[in-house]
Amino acid sequence: MSFPAGFRWGVATSAYQIEGAAALDGRGPSIWDTFAAVPGAVANGDTGEVAADHYHRWAEDVRLLVDLGVDAYRFSVSWSRVLPEGRGKVEQRGLDFYRRLVDTLRDNDVEPFLTLYHWDLPQALEDEGGWRNRDTAGWFADYAATVHEALSDGVSKWTTLNEPYCSSVVGYAEGRHAPGAREGHGALAAVHHLLLGHGLAVQSMRANGVAGQEFGIVLNQSPTVPVTDSPADVAAAVRQDVLLRRQFTDPLFGGEYPPEMESMYGALTDFSFRHDEDLSIIGQPLDYVGLNYYYRLHVADAPHREPDPAKRTAHDIGVDTSQLPNVQRTGMGWPVEPEGLTTALTDLKARHPHLPPIYVTENGCVFPDTEGFLDNDRITFLRDHIAAAQAADVDLRGYFCWSLLDNFEWAHGYKHRFGLIHVDYQTQERTPRASYHWYRDFIKAQRQDS
Ligand code: FCB
Repeated sequence: MSFPAGFRWGVATSAYQIEGAAALDGRGPSIWDTFAAVPGAVANGDTGEVAADHYHRWAEDVRLLVDLGVDAYRFSVSWSRVLPEGRGKVEQRGLDFYRRLVDTLRDNDVEPFLTLYHWDLPQALEDEGGWRNRDTAGWFADYAATVHEALSDGVSKWTTLNEPYCSSVVGYAEGRHAPGAREGHGALAAVHHLLLGHGLAVQSMRANGVAGQEFGIVLNQSPTVPVTDSPADVAAAVRQDVLLRRQFTDPLFGGEYPPEMESMYGALTDFSFRHDEDLSIIGQPLDYVGLNYYYRLHVADAPHREPDPAKRTAHDIGVDTSQLPNVQRTGMGWPVEPEGLTTALTDLKARHPHLPPIYVTENGCVFPDTEGFLDNDRITFLRDHIAAAQAADVDLRGYFCWSLLDNFEWAHGYKHRFGLIHVDYQTQERTPRASYHWYRDFIKAQRQDS
């Protein structure tokens, strides 16, 4: 394999999944602290209270990523560490933590890729309606400007949102993620306010007038495949695609929401939360787009779970995605289909010819651990997916593996381990897996070739 000179090789993490120190140095609670405390919400009653204790062990973790040889590190800032109430009073100790991290990365020639929102809304803002509330978009832009003012001398890659699909549909319609709501109108309003918040945040950071800054968003992109070529299954796959991909990419890069949403939702929502001026804010020109890829979705037509359209949740669109092809599956049960990464990249570019450069901002897997952490399945997975990324004829600038460390895998708790590095949650000891050594050697070989 060979990638152009300057291609970024990185790893990714997020704040709530690794930091721990949930109540330290003035941090306020986020919706994930609240959700994890609800019995049954997270497997095994796990919470992010301690996680991988990265808040205390960040220097060791930076050392591990420097030894890995990556030249980019994607992490997220915890909004409620910086603004414990979500707005108003700034907690300097929170900003200081990220300042130390950024400076140490820079000292070691690792470029920070900072994400402002990886799902951890301050609880104080959820108490005011969360992403259902249009004001949250403005509060997000204020938070973005605050972090940008503090760190833009060390950070030039700014991602507003990670996977707004999950923050809206999974959090407000499916209820599998914080805040655990099961709604129709509220979840679609959350989609819109997240996108609006993204646009306003880009505007507010650009208004700081710092040269050389790049702004982007990270989207999860699962291509959809109808399980048969019957018109019903094909139509179901289109609905699924509208829900997961086009509801986000069309307004971001095409200036409009998918027209199919009207017929998909009918009486469910009046969309009055969309104001005329919003689409031009959402469609701010971007410097890059991040694409997360884990699996393809195989879609069949199915009856709605809730017959009464007025009571339907936003993900109840008459589809069944449980019929998987006969291929290897990861520990998450996800089908291993590297070709889906090629399609995800080429679809995005084909649909939006003026798309900015792309980074693969997450890709990775879990498999049960073996003796000595010889995770050959992970190595094969990564190698095949990197090859699939290369096969796409798009302007691809980098690849980030998810994840540097084992971490809190949301509603699954600590059961599923995505790390190149194993974490013993009793002792917090870090042990690089074979995949860590493989990725290090792979990056080294790439640099020698280019
Ligand atoms: C993505 C999330 C990331 C991690 C991986 C496995 O959807 O962005 O935090 O949980 O899945």
